[in-house]
Amino acid sequence: MSTAIAHPNIALIKYWGKRDDELILPLTGSLSLTLDVFPTTTTVTLAPDSAVDEVLFDGAPAGAAERIVAFLDLVRGLAGSTTRARVHTRNSVPTGAGLASSASGFAALAVAAASAYGLALDDAALSRLARRGSGSACRSIVGGTAIWHAGSDDDSSFAEPVAGPDLGMVIAVVDAAAKPISSRQAMRRTIETSPYLPAWVSSTEADLAAMQQAFARGDVTAIGELTESNALRMHAAIMAARPPVRYLAPQSIALFDTAARLRADGLEAYATADAGPNVVFLCRGADVDAVRDAVAADPAAGIAPDRLVAAHAGPGAHLVEGAA
Ligand code: PMV
Repeated sequence: MSTAIAHPNIALIKYWGKRDDELILPLTGSLSLTLDVFPTTTTVTLAPDSAVDEVLFDGAPAGAAERIVAFLDLVRGLAGSTTRARVHTRNSVPTGAGLASSASGFAALAVAAASAYGLALDDAALSRLARRGSGSACRSIVGGTAIWHAGSDDDSSFAEPVAGPDLGMVIAVVDAAAKPISSRQAMRRTIETSPYLPAWVSSTEADLAAMQQAFARGDVTAIGELTESNALRMHAAIMAARPPVRYLAPQSIALFDTAARLRADGLEAYATADAGPNVVFLCRGADVDAVRDAVAADPAAGIAPDRLVAAHAGPGAHLVEGAA
């Protein structure tokens, strides 16, 4: 029996678009912060007597377990095993908060399954493995800030730590509902129909290079400006797909305005958003509480204090039980 814990990560430079759907190789590199909130805990137990894999979420049989079974098949292939497994995943995300993360989920599963099947993998290999479950999961193998090198093949596409200033985040939960279209489908539609895709790819490559320099300088202002702009460019490329996909809600836009207002008042905060309406404020680690209080106090943001979650840099995915 092997149990692993992993945390979600939020990208400062986004991953949006695959160049290889099977291997999950991205069109561009990306850079993220792994958080210290909303951990996923996953236990993998080998079940030699079972003919099928059993997958449970919070104790109940999981609905869409195909991706998890496909991932276990990958691990079994690496381990030369045909033994089935029992997977039990517990998410600490407040029920229905809309923040359940495939990143923490597949990072925890990669670490627990590799251990259960006796694979001795280093962090780069675990990151490559987690990538096959969900692209962004490769970054949750790494604690704190991580860069995912796009790479040119399975071997060269993985995440590793990147040194930089202490950063924090405040998550604004705008809408708890499931997203209308999965990131997987929306990425494909963006690639197939958005005329802005080439501009997204070339500008993100430039943003990533600039971001690495900003990290090396410890320049939080440049990091924040690049973060906010890169997120808006991603959403612009997505909105330009046909039929269009729009993840940002009116309140999401209002929260981007709140970030600008905070900055005008001398508190540095920058907004970003993934494939949904929730907005995440990036700031200095020391400013997290001040940013949360300032967002809560902005009437135009219209967000209740209990919908704001303060987060700092969190640990990479790790075993809590079982052999590495
Ligand atoms: O890894 P996926 O398929 O959940 O895609 C993640 C996409 C974004 O969250 C929007 C961006 C990112 O880099 O995390």
